[in-house]
Amino acid sequence: MLEISGLTTRYGAISALRGVSLSVGANEVVGLIGPNGAGKTTLLNTVAGLLRPAEGEVRLDTVAVTGNSPDRMLRAGLALVPEHRRLFAQMTVAENLRIGGATVSADQRSALLDEMAELFGVLREKWSTPAGYLSGGEAQQLAIARALMSNPRIVLMDEPSLGLAPVLVDFVFDLVARLRSEGRTLLVVEQNATRLLEVADRAYVLRTGEVAAEGPATELLARDDLFDTFVGVSARSAPRSGQQP
Ligand SMILES: Nc1ncnc2c1ncn2[C@@H]1O[C@H](COP(=O)(O)OP(=O)(O)O)[C@@H](O)[C@H]1O
Ligand SMILES: [Mg+2]
Repeated sequence: MLEISGLTTRYGAISALRGVSLSVGANEVVGLIGPNGAGKTTLLNTVAGLLRPAEGEVRLDTVAVTGNSPDRMLRAGLALVPEHRRLFAQMTVAENLRIGGATVSADQRSALLDEMAELFGVLREKWSTPAGYLSGGEAQQLAIARALMSNPRIVLMDEPSLGLAPVLVDFVFDLVARLRSEGRTLLVVEQNATRLLEVADRAYVLRTGEVAAEGPATELLARDDLFDTFVGVSARSAPRSGQQP
């Protein structure tokens, strides 16, 4: 569904991505892991149209979409849950969701609102609360729900568990697993490498702007060298809350 080839993105003289190739098939959950500064956010932002690549190509269902605006990418079926969430703080939960559904029909929007209220019980309780008043966990759920409101064919998530309390980290990974079982297509970035590999089909390890390793999640999980050399030992993340190590 998503095919990225030879992608290079620069900030001035710095190449944050250097010839990255990666693919995500329909109904696949693909993980993207790697240390801080590896280029994970740059990759998602380039694919979503927030940054322009210097070289390379992005294809969505074989159609070249390289350098398209974020709005065009959304209409093409690609939604981003950005780093730092970027919600509209003064607008209510419901208003944020409606904006997320701006590209779909009114009928579909109202069906999707019902679906989000069911998927995220916490949001239903805070329907009329301004997003700025939400806790970190609630805000992250809203950011994910807002992306789903566009009825996307593929969702890109940038560190959805970052900064959340352990019980909410569990919720996020359970949600990824649930979206996977619904047959959704996801590309998920996480520092929490082990937890992501437990719910992903395949993954790529990014290091200093290049793909350092790739493969089925189960294979990557078994490779201690990856965690020691590429990702950093801390990526052997804490187990589920409530479980003993
Ligand atoms: N706006 C920017 N201007 C200049 N350099 C940047 C900018 N954003 C990121 N970088 C640099 O690009 C590299 C990749 O960053 P980023 O994509 O945020 O990595 P990650 O998400 O993996 O932590 C880092 O070296 C970072 O310092
Ligand atoms: Mg990042």
